[in-house]
Amino acid sequence: MRAADIADDLTDVLVTQEQIHDKLDEIAARVAADYAGKDLLLVGVLKGAVMVMADFSRALPELVPMDWMAVSSYGAGTKSSGVVQIRKDLDTDITDKHVLIVEDIIDSGLTLDWLLKNFEARGAASIEVFALLRKPDAAKVEIPCRYVGFDIPNDFVVGYGLDFAEKYRNLRDVAVLAPHVYA
Ligand code: PRP
Repeated sequence: MRAADIADDLTDVLVTQEQIHDKLDEIAARVAADYAGKDLLLVGVLKGAVMVMADFSRALPELVPMDWMAVSSYGAGTKSSGVVQIRKDLDTDITDKHVLIVEDIIDSGLTLDWLLKNFEARGAASIEVFALLRKPDAAKVEIPCRYVGFDIPNDFVVGYGLDFAEKYRNLRDVAVLAPHVYA
């Protein structure tokens, strides 16, 4: 589904499918060069990262394993507490592996802040982050992010894995949700 198919639900299209795929090709080339000869493991964070992982991993010129984490923020009833619960852990032992975490978006940064600390305790050889989208104006904590697709405004965005109440993940583009949808 394209943004034009649900234009009434959206205000602006921030990033089109074509722009995403061009960017993924560019970042895949950088990652392939940076990790040449290294034992790379891609780790996706469910569920939002499903689309970016699917397209990014296939843009890489080499075979690369992938694993998944599912986490949820909880505590004090809000996401902003920074308390994270593991709902599905890695299947892989990351000791001595070069881990690249693949995320759809860095919003406050709290999820990745927690995840990076958690991974550091597991003895990985290196841990880096690739986030397709980042909202600089929403940052509560700075995340060292080696690969960033697009910096975007602090709007309610959906599409390409990002949801509102589990909807809009299968939109091909990234767009701003119209306030009448969630107000
Ligand atoms: C989203 C996104 C990141 C996190 C970023 O996941 O996929 O994991 O929020 O937000 P933060 O920087 O403020 O921590 P969400 O918790 O919405 O779950 P989902 O991926 O299943 O949609």
